[in-house]
Amino acid sequence: MSDTGKSPAGISSAGAERYSVGVIGAGTMGNVHADAWRSTGARLIGVYDIDPAAGERLATKFGIAAFPSRQALFDAVDIVDVCTPTYTHAENVVAAAQAGKHVVCEKPMALSLEECASMIRAAEQAGVRLFIAQVVRFFAEFATAKQLIDSGKIGKVGVYRSTRGGSNPGEAGPTWFTQEYRSGGVVLDLMVHDIDYARWVCGDVERVYCRRFLGANTDYALITLRFRSGAIGHIEGSWAFPAGMFRTAFDIAGDGGLLTYDSESSAPLRFRRREQAAAKGGVVVPSSPMDPADNPYLKEIQHFLSCLMSGEQFLVTAYDAMAAVQVALAARQSALTGRPVTLEPLSLGQKG
Ligand SMILES: NC(=O)c1ccc[n+]([C@@H]2O[C@H](COP(=O)([O-])OP(=O)(O)OC[C@H]3O[C@@H](n4cnc5c(N)ncnc54)[C@H](O)[C@@H]3O)[C@@H](O)[C@H]2O)c1
Repeated sequence: MSDTGKSPAGISSAGAERYSVGVIGAGTMGNVHADAWRSTGARLIGVYDIDPAAGERLATKFGIAAFPSRQALFDAVDIVDVCTPTYTHAENVVAAAQAGKHVVCEKPMALSLEECASMIRAAEQAGVRLFIAQVVRFFAEFATAKQLIDSGKIGKVGVYRSTRGGSNPGEAGPTWFTQEYRSGGVVLDLMVHDIDYARWVCGDVERVYCRRFLGANTDYALITLRFRSGAIGHIEGSWAFPAGMFRTAFDIAGDGGLLTYDSESSAPLRFRRREQAAAKGGVVVPSSPMDPADNPYLKEIQHFLSCLMSGEQFLVTAYDAMAAVQVALAARQSALTGRPVTLEPLSLGQKG
């Protein structure tokens, strides 16, 4: 926290100190979120993990308490940040909401629409805020591209294409990530990032088609989307890269221009306006992933806090997160049946 009262992400933290925060789940994302909370002005006071040793490790690292039970954490905090594996999200979020706590929860929201609906209902009934951490909306390149699109720079979007890939989480040993019934596999766990972003850019999805390849250390899928706007989308996701490699990229084409981004490129986000392209070439929109102000995990937590204090709607609503899960589930179904899936309207009485 700087002495101007602003976080590195530049959002005012005035008043944040009145909130106490507890993290559930002390794995990779529990550590990332705990680190972010420390820069917000809110009081990170403790962690609970089903594995006491993991809880102790995070608690020691951040100088906070390791609570012996989830209830003990609920009793001590105003905000609960759920960073547990996906198959436990619904249960943890519903319990936190019923305890009267505002909730942040990692993506993907849950494994079924029924679970998503139960989370939203629990928050609404308890009068608490629920924020699903769809972090891609807070990455500088993705946020800048969205701003350019909203300001009409590329005209009406016709084609959205993205890719996201990393190594297979199972390569390092057994993990819940490669258990389809616990993580949803590459489609739900990884591609939900781009599904959410594609919906942000192109609006609601009408129809979903998916081809998927599952093999040794390989979980690959290619999703084709038809948006209600008439736009089409191609979303590629891969858990098949060599260890340590991670790449994201997109091309978004409108009737007035093209936005391209590739995380492997040194000047990742480029904007080319059709009528200017011949004269001036590409305009590079600079962004620095190394700048602490660009840390998307801090930005999303700051955004949550800021909306909590102001009462404003979140950039990504719980319904958006549920809609992204709906598309991912439809993609998995399409991959199994070989047929396209037309989406039904979402409802909080949702089954399945
Ligand atoms: N936004 C991103 O970029 C991003 C990246 C990785 C993972 N994730 C998501 O974050 C979530 C957590 O992933 P991770 O990589 O931190 O997993 P992880 O396996 O590294 O850590 C999970 C932790 O939760 C604990 N845990 C399991 N069940 C629990 C329970 N019922 N109560 C309390 N603690 C419990 C485990 O002991 C472990 O310490 C997943 O939903 C995942 O999809 C998001």
